[in-house]
Amino acid sequence: MQQIESAATSKQSAAANGMSRHQQDFPIEWEGDHYVTRREMVKFLTLGSLLLAIANWAMAFSRRLVRRESKVVKLIGPIEELEEHSHLLFRYPTPESPCIAIRTPEGQLVAYSQVCTHLSCAVVYDKSENQLLCPCHRGAFEVKEGTPVAGPPTRALPRVTLEQRGDQIFATGWEA
Ligand code: FES
Repeated sequence: MQQIESAATSKQSAAANGMSRHQQDFPIEWEGDHYVTRREMVKFLTLGSLLLAIANWAMAFSRRLVRRESKVVKLIGPIEELEEHSHLLFRYPTPESPCIAIRTPEGQLVAYSQVCTHLSCAVVYDKSENQLLCPCHRGAFEVKEGTPVAGPPTRALPRVTLEQRGDQIFATGWEA
């Protein structure tokens, strides 16, 4: 009963002030309303950007840590399978990580992750150009150091360190 009376009283006072009940309950002007919304939006964007930056940094750091600690030694294959100017696909350090070993025309033996540093497509060895090519966006990497020479990639391919033991080639880690 008392509630009904107070509601009726507030209705009367709102009418007396020339304000609707809604205006009295939410006394925020349109300009103020915009201001609050903009401020909240900026807060949201700032916080979101900060969280994304932290997540990015954490991912990069953990990847580096995993790489540095991965001292897995894995057999790639016999040396005669890597004749001059040929290549061999292998997985290192896990079965989900495709890599490629190449014997350059100069006789140098190199190996890289096959995952393109742009958007992770698999790079392939182009014998005629003596380059690693990415078919997704026509990225290209030179063979001696794995550095990008064409297309959107800006980072070199991660390089696998190799070791010859007898007539076998082993992957032994990642170059820093
Ligand atoms: S994913 Fe390799 S160039 Fe874009």
